[in-house]
Amino acid sequence: MTHQTIIFENIQTAVENGVMTITINREGKLNALTIDTLQEIKHAIQEAEKREDVSGIILTGAGPKAFAAGADISEFAHFGEDQATRMSADGHEVMNTIENSEKPVIAAVNGFALGGGCELAMACHMRVASENAKFGQPEVNLGVPPGYGGTQRLIQLVGKGKAIELLLTGDAIDAQTAFNLGLVNYVVNQENLLDKCREILAKTATKSPVAVAKVIRCVNDFFRPNVNGMQREIYEFGEAFVTEDFKEGTDAFLNKRKPNFPGK
Ligand code: COA
Repeated sequence: MTHQTIIFENIQTAVENGVMTITINREGKLNALTIDTLQEIKHAIQEAEKREDVSGIILTGAGPKAFAAGADISEFAHFGEDQATRMSADGHEVMNTIENSEKPVIAAVNGFALGGGCELAMACHMRVASENAKFGQPEVNLGVPPGYGGTQRLIQLVGKGKAIELLLTGDAIDAQTAFNLGLVNYVVNQENLLDKCREILAKTATKSPVAVAKVIRCVNDFFRPNVNGMQREIYEFGEAFVTEDFKEGTDAFLNKRKPNFPGK
């Protein structure tokens, strides 16, 4: 199967051992997220979803200092209301694409994850942070609320009480504090950061892709207004029974062997 090669200007992608690593490549600007950068991330995620040789995705930033230090302030400083509304709506679409990816996406947070950078990390399914990582939503210092889902996803991850404090003070927190709050899954040395993410994805890669996609859908539905997550689970559970993955998983268990899931 051939795949269209996409040339990116602001990110780099590499596929190795079933994992696509997407690296935001604006180190000199602390990987600040321009509108184009976010669109490139969206296209890379869509590409990863299509590729049969990819089972998981790592999203990280170039260099040792930043995951992403926010939306690129120099780009939006002169925007009017319409442009800002469009910027936010398009950004939400990017974040939703990541959150709804049927393949697990892990943010490898290698430094500053501020503003849009923190929002980007929160849209991923899991976050692994290096010890130097810093998280925060400093938008109140710029005269705006967060615009890429930060007011919603921070509450989902850490609860309203702490979320509103972080959102109102703009305070940045270190990796250990983020771990204690449940904002990140693991804190590791910077040199072990990508390996830790690969280790998690090596585990999920052995599971049924059908079941993995269904779990992501069910979990996301918990947070969707007007959607009943319990009903979703009942539906996804029933539907799984007509898949080859289910036949393979149950047959492997009953015959005391490791499953080899076809992913359909
Ligand atoms: N948008 C645009 N450029 C940014 C940026 C952002 N969000 N964050 C950092 N940069 C740029 C700086 O302007 C600087 O560019 P220059 O060398 O051309 O002047 C470069 O990245 C390095 O940043 P600098 O501020 O010199 O690094 P620092 O180590 O002194 O400070 C931070 C690091 C993260 C504390 C500081 O860059 C910062 O506060 N950034 C903005 C964070 C923010 O408000 N994000 C939310 C945006 S919605």
